[in-house]
Amino acid sequence: MTKEATQDLQTAPVKRRGRPSKSSVDLPTQSLPQHRDESGNLQTVGIGGLETQRVYHGNFIEMVSQLPDQSVDIIIADPPYNASKGNELTMQYGTLPGFGGSWRKIAQVWDDMSLHDYLAFTLSWLTEARRVLKPTGSMWVHGTYHSAGVTNVAMQMLEVEIINEIVWYKRNSFPNLAGRRLTASHETILWAHRGGKRAYRFNYEHSKFGDFSDDDLKSPGKQMRTVWDLPNNKPRHEQAHGKHPAQKPVRLAKRFIELSAGPGDLCLVPFAGSGSECVAAQEAGLHFIGFDTDESYVEIARARLSRGAK
Ligand SMILES: C[S@@+](CC[C@H](N)C(=O)[O-])C[C@H]1O[C@@H](n2cnc3c(N)ncnc32)[C@H](O)[C@@H]1O
Repeated sequence: MTKEATQDLQTAPVKRRGRPSKSSVDLPTQSLPQHRDESGNLQTVGIGGLETQRVYHGNFIEMVSQLPDQSVDIIIADPPYNASKGNELTMQYGTLPGFGGSWRKIAQVWDDMSLHDYLAFTLSWLTEARRVLKPTGSMWVHGTYHSAGVTNVAMQMLEVEIINEIVWYKRNSFPNLAGRRLTASHETILWAHRGGKRAYRFNYEHSKFGDFSDDDLKSPGKQMRTVWDLPNNKPRHEQAHGKHPAQKPVRLAKRFIELSAGPGDLCLVPFAGSGSECVAAQEAGLHFIGFDTDESYVEIARARLSRGAK
């Protein structure tokens, strides 16, 4: 890392030492009103300067400042993996050193940063995520070998405690055509709470006895393990309004919600893309607020959400 880069990083909003103060942990947390429309969908509620049941077109790091401290129950974050290098993008940062194989580079400008910028970006959004998360809340953060290490380091710098690292095994992953390395067949998910006193919600009974019959690695009545075998295929209706190059299946976000939240909770989706995590929240009876900087994805998300909960 260059000297300039190190200096820039030092200006990033990092809480370096010390536990969260007792008062910040003990602030009372409030539930939102749960009025429902005729279809059973939660009605919009104002919170800070924002409204629930909406996907906003804008930068999460800037817009989330309108949300009060400790107001969110669950954050589901699928940030850019910083895996796009080359193709129609500039080669300013060259190729992706140390990575390759069958990884599908999605060639999006929002996914193409220097390593230094990516760490600063991760620290910035995680700082805000930690600020708005209730002591009882959870955050779930997607990653791959391109990005999960950076997220892990950033969480440790911010004293966000990682509860579990989950391997999402993708049984239908694309083979490594060149035969130069193993077939990449998993992604990493970090489950974390804001740090300090452990008060996060864990629906343990459900994790053990719930219906996870789509997961070949989950035995009924046994504790859930940290390797999940969930198909990555998307039913046709999940892509009926357009596709996103990094779209996740709704079933994945549903599992996060089932494990750590409940109906009426507020779910924050910093990087909404085509809205998969917002749809999961809507279908599970949660309030949600999403953001995306790309208007075309916001349109897809809004169209999906307008179908209402099933
Ligand atoms: C990995 S994708 C999310 C895909 C989503 N999980 C889905 O199923 O469609 C990341 C998204 O973050 C958006 N993005 C990048 N930087 C952002 C920022 N600062 N604030 C909000 N959205 C951002 C991109 O436009 C992209 O759609």
